[in-house]
Order: sequence, then structure tokens, then C-alpha cells
Amino acid sequence: MKKPITPLFFSGLLFMATLIFPASSLPVSPALYPVGGTTGFSANDLKAEAFAILDAKCNTCHRRQNPFRVFTLKNMNRHGARIYKQVFVLRRMPKGNAPRLTDLEYRTLKLWIDTLNL
Ligand code: HEC
Repeated sequence: MKKPITPLFFSGLLFMATLIFPASSLPVSPALYPVGGTTGFSANDLKAEAFAILDAKCNTCHRRQNPFRVFTLKNMNRHGARIYKQVFVLRRMPKGNAPRLTDLEYRTLKLWIDTLNL
């Protein structure tokens, strides 16, 4: 007679899976982890993620409408305080909310700004 598959069997599988795939190797966005934690996720990765957002959601418009504020990896830290004010305090940017930022994008930008110690 076949034994039924018990819940214990599944929790055993899950346990083995966590041994083979520790949390740090799971394809979860690093922005969900605190900076400088035990995951090996560095401030530079966070900056790169923040830049990807600035490039996709801000530069697309600024390139045409505000060419003196096109964000780059080189100038973004310098613009950090201004970005913080426009996005989080005054909520003027992204202008007209087009394009809109997702919750994760807001959190990622905020985590990056926090690293600047403004
Ligand atoms: C649809 C167009 C558009 C989008 C999208 C946009 N901006 Fe702007 N932004 C502008 C324009 C136009 C100005 C200049 C006039 C003004 O301040 O309203 C500006 C000005 C700014 C300024 C300077 C304001 C000051 O006086 O210091 C900052 C900083 C800024 N934007 C940040 C951002 C960030 C960060 C994003 C993305 C999250 C973003 N913007 C998205 C159009 C846009």
C-alpha cells in the first residue's frame, strides 16, 4: 500500500530547498533588503537601481523639457537633495505623474537618498 504524502514531506522539501538556495541567491529585488545587511548587497548596487529609475522615469522627460537636469551616475548624488524635495516633499515630480513611480521605485529611491546622509 502506498503511503500518503504528508505535510512533513513538503516541509522537508522546503528545508532542503533553503539549504540549496539560500535567501541571498533568490531572484528577489535587492531593493527589498536593507543596505549593508548580510546579503552582500552594496550601496553601489542600490545607486545603480536608483539610476535605472531616474533614467527610465525622469530623464525621458527631462531630456526634452529640462535638459540641464538630466541625471547621470556621476551627477545624481549631487542632485540628491533636490530629487528628495521634488519627489518626496513637494511631490511635484515626476511632473504630472507621467510616468508614475511604483511603490518599489519610491522605496528604492528613498533607500538610495538615505545613503547620501543629506
Ligand atoms: C513629464 C516631464 C517630467 C518628468 C517625467 C519628470 N520631470 Fe522633473 N522637471 C520637469 C520640468 C519641465 C522641470 C523644470 C520646471 C519645473 O521645475 O517645473 C523639472 C524640474 C525638476 C527638478 C528641478 C526643480 C528645482 O527647481 O530644483 C528636479 C530635481 C526634478 N525635476 C526631478 C525629477 C525627478 C527625480 C523625476 C523622476 C522621478 C522627474 N523630475 C520627472 C519635467 C519632468
